[in-house]
Amino acid sequence: MITSSTVFGHDCDPAEYADIDPVRLLSMWIPAPGAAPPPLMALATVAEDGYPRARHVLLSEYRDGAVRFHTDATSAKVAELRATPRAAVTVAWPEIGRQVSVCGDISSSEPQHDRTVYARRGRYLQLLAWLNTPEVAALDPERRHATWARFDAEHPQLEPPPNWLGFSLEPRELTFWRGDPLGPSQRTRYRRTDDRWTVEVLPG
Ligand SMILES: Cc1cc2nc3c(=O)[nH]c(=O)nc-3n(C[C@H](O)[C@H](O)[C@H](O)COP(=O)(O)O)c2cc1C
Repeated sequence: MITSSTVFGHDCDPAEYADIDPVRLLSMWIPAPGAAPPPLMALATVAEDGYPRARHVLLSEYRDGAVRFHTDATSAKVAELRATPRAAVTVAWPEIGRQVSVCGDISSSEPQHDRTVYARRGRYLQLLAWLNTPEVAALDPERRHATWARFDAEHPQLEPPPNWLGFSLEPRELTFWRGDPLGPSQRTRYRRTDDRWTVEVLPG
């Protein structure tokens, strides 16, 4: 069973939320790499037609005040992020009544960190990063499985594929939602203007 102590390293008293740096607060909410399975987050991008697109990706790590995720360079989301380098992500922990939403500006992450993140991924995800291609997807299940098994057997050690790409999301707005089994839920929203954060407490 997931509890706040298995998901989070620390938290602070909600009474302190008005004074805390939200970048630090987020580091309390996001588990350190390796401490727990990487959280799944909904990632929204702006598509060329002006409509948002959303999908789930793993939160690779939260480091130096930025949320990092990894994907395939040929994916639609990468084209969207290159055209409009802005995004929003949301992670929910319904079991413990938490959600955090972040929106902000996108930049590429550093290649040496991309390699570290790849090395941390389990074998299945390392293989998937190589074999998640249109050619393999078009095969019937038998050939798809045979292609996977052959590649797996031929590559006991894997490096990141050339299409493995990391992005950093630097927050400009963070909203921390806390459920409360004894009463109404509550949000604390931080917005960055210039170098200052403004904070608001909102209904959940
Ligand atoms: C549990 C789960 C985890 C996923 N993790 C990732 C991920 O870390 N990176 C990624 O590119 N896609 C991940 N995906 C697949 C994406 O949701 C999406 O289908 C894919 O990246 C293509 O998205 P796009 O065409 O919008 O770019 C994951 C899907 C699920 C259901």
